[in-house]
Amino acid sequence: MNAVIFDLDGVICFTDQYHYLAWKEMADEIGVYFDETINNRLRGVSRMDSLNIILEKSDKAYTHEQKEALAAKKNAIYVKLLEQMSPADLSDEVKTTLDALRAKGLKLAIGSSSKNTKMILKQIGLGDYFDAISDGTNIVNSKPDPEVFLKAAEFLSEDPKDCLVVEDALAGIEAAVRGGFKSAGLGEAATHEKVTYPMETFRDLLRIV
Ligand code: BG6
Ligand code: MG
Repeated sequence: MNAVIFDLDGVICFTDQYHYLAWKEMADEIGVYFDETINNRLRGVSRMDSLNIILEKSDKAYTHEQKEALAAKKNAIYVKLLEQMSPADLSDEVKTTLDALRAKGLKLAIGSSSKNTKMILKQIGLGDYFDAISDGTNIVNSKPDPEVFLKAAEFLSEDPKDCLVVEDALAGIEAAVRGGFKSAGLGEAATHEKVTYPMETFRDLLRIV
């Protein structure tokens, strides 16, 4: 293994609650039912795909422009919430494990669907930490398409077979498998039938690589 590519939300830090609050405010404004169970389905899914899942509960047809406006409204609320994040939102376990992986000579990268990746990394004090960042701003197809991880490998000049993808979402493991990567899964992702290494906690990575 030469490199490790990390998903961001749910792996390096936890933004689920901020996504939930922002989508909830938007959904309430248009009178569409939304709860934590629906929010769980949005893990790893792009912003527009997430909105489409939320609008399954609406009987109204929205135009592309209206959807763009709703997604922008959610994002404005979300970004405002992200401003509360600080280095205190990076756990000691994650930071010491990342440092130990780096000390082993591995290249470290991010592979996230989020267009807010760079802001989040800056907020938690990892703005300059990774060797490469592939995120929602450099892809056309979101997970389970492998594009975001293939781009990360390309940015690192590594072959997918020499990279480990770390994920918390089923769609992320699917993307890793399709791209020819080995994968390590946390939470729900540990239950994917094709995950290479199911994990219980982040520091398990030190036993894997
Ligand atoms: C992923 C999250 O990391 O990013 C998803 O798991 C989210 O829930 C997606 O929808 C897109 O995020 P953003 O920040 O571009 O709206
Ligand atoms: Mg995730």
